[in-house]
Amino acid sequence: MLVQLARRLHPDARITVLTGAGVSAASGVPTFRGPNGLWKNFRPESLATPEAFHRDPKLVWEWYDWRRQILSTKKPNRAHEVLAAWSRRYRDFTLITQNVDGLHERAGTRNVIRFHGSIWEVLCSNNCSGSPARWLDETVPFPEIPPKCPHCGGLIRPGVVWFGEGIDPDVMRRSADALDCDIFLTVGTSAVVYPAASLVHEAKARGAYTVEVNVESTPASRLLDLALQGPAEEILHGLECRITRPSYT
Ligand code: OAD
Repeated sequence: MLVQLARRLHPDARITVLTGAGVSAASGVPTFRGPNGLWKNFRPESLATPEAFHRDPKLVWEWYDWRRQILSTKKPNRAHEVLAAWSRRYRDFTLITQNVDGLHERAGTRNVIRFHGSIWEVLCSNNCSGSPARWLDETVPFPEIPPKCPHCGGLIRPGVVWFGEGIDPDVMRRSADALDCDIFLTVGTSAVVYPAASLVHEAKARGAYTVEVNVESTPASRLLDLALQGPAEEILHGLECRITRPSYT
């Protein structure tokens, strides 16, 4: 199966990849769902909604600061590396990630669309006129929680998309453009959070060959052209070996 898929990934193929938390699992980053997922021990509505931030910004920031501390010790794994190599090799390659961890960028991936934002970016919660729309702040840990806007002294918030918030229109437009592709791979996502989960179906409707890579089956598995079950870091490595060395068995 990998051999046939490797043939489809020829130099002129237009490739779009959607990633989720499973891609970072081998780096030691916790996923959200599943037995050890973050949402087993934490309630999204207490930590990842605008209402939660309004109610208790200190609690929300303590959680994000804790996640930033964990992430600052993690490195990209083989799955990130293979996708980074593809982004440099293929002329028409887009990576849409739901992950906010920044590991795709650290692996050197080009043309990354951060569908759910970045945990390393912040924005002024007052939308103050002195500050940019969002900016990079990699302080770990923050000396004061909740951290303050350097321009107006109000609170800053993490640059991530929370439940109940819409996707940035520009991100949505660029993602929609990337659905006109030859191959759409969805990797390491439970395929339950919308609108991200709808992208693969839209790509299929537009004629793409759709592939899922996941350690388990998801609601999308049986609707796609090919479901490859196994760890992303192993399957993408195996695929890359077959692309770069056609004699590889
Ligand atoms: P989930 O935690 O929901 O799903 C992770 C998926 O990765 C599961 O389907 C696992 O089976 C799979 N998985 C785990 N290890 C893997 C591995 N080594 N290789 C391949 N697959 C593996 O994470 P997401 O689908 O990314 O949203 O979650 C989507 C969104 O829900 C997140 O972006 C976040 C969360 O709430 C926001 O924060 C807005």
